Amino acid sequence: MRKPIIAANWKMYKTFDEAVEFVEAIKDKIPPVEKVDAVVCAPALYLPTLVDIAKETDLAIGAQNMHYEEEGAFTGEISPKQLEAIQVDYVIIGHSERREYFNETDEAVNKKVKAALSHGIVPIVCCGETLEEREAGQTEEKVANQVKKALAGLTEEEVQHIVIAYEPIWAIGTGKTATSDDANAVCGHIRKVVEELYGKAAAENIRIQYGGSVKPENIEDLLSKEQIDGALVGGASLQVESYLKLLEAGA
Ligand code: G3H
Repeated sequence: MRKPIIAANWKMYKTFDEAVEFVEAIKDKIPPVEKVDAVVCAPALYLPTLVDIAKETDLAIGAQNMHYEEEGAFTGEISPKQLEAIQVDYVIIGHSERREYFNETDEAVNKKVKAALSHGIVPIVCCGETLEEREAGQTEEKVANQVKKALAGLTEEEVQHIVIAYEPIWAIGTGKTATSDDANAVCGHIRKVVEELYGKAAAENIRIQYGGSVKPENIEDLLSKEQIDGALVGGASLQVESYLKLLEAGA
């Protein structure tokens, strides 16, 4: 049985005060960590404070990006060593917005995944197709390719610690959700790719989330599917009540 993981991706939303208020409001209402992994991926600026507030609770804090180098002359970047030092537990890697607007390549994604793992941070690795690719019947090929490149060089043991987020780009922030059957089919395909590369045990253990217009109204249907182990949520994770409902659905 894979434990569901519900991760909020706040993207570039919320001021510092709003972020603190949110985490203060939810920290004692998180379902037990034995049932669901609850994660908030916040703007980097707020991470040390949020980690501190969430300490001793069942809420984990994540970053939305990081560099793959330990340190160096990379103005404006944040390293895995720096995230580890403030006890950040998760990091989103290769979100489609980063691939599209910040030229993040599959090669960089792979380096970041390895760097996160070597610092004890769980990477949430994103993949997904554009609308054009879906309409051209290229969804499976696209995500398989992204997943293979993201995982290249990892050991069977390492692969089991990562989380993959399948996010069809056309469903992000658009209100259009993939049907639960379509999302399940693509997550199943990703699991098959992991099995081909790393064997059955790794494929059965790895957690695969769906992301793209997930909200309290549709999360139960999505999570009822065999291959979907959680959700990566943007818009609907920004309000306390809505985020708590998403966690309840996962628990
Ligand atoms: O990382 C989260 C996704 O981009 C989904 O965003 O829930 O606003 O569609 P959304």
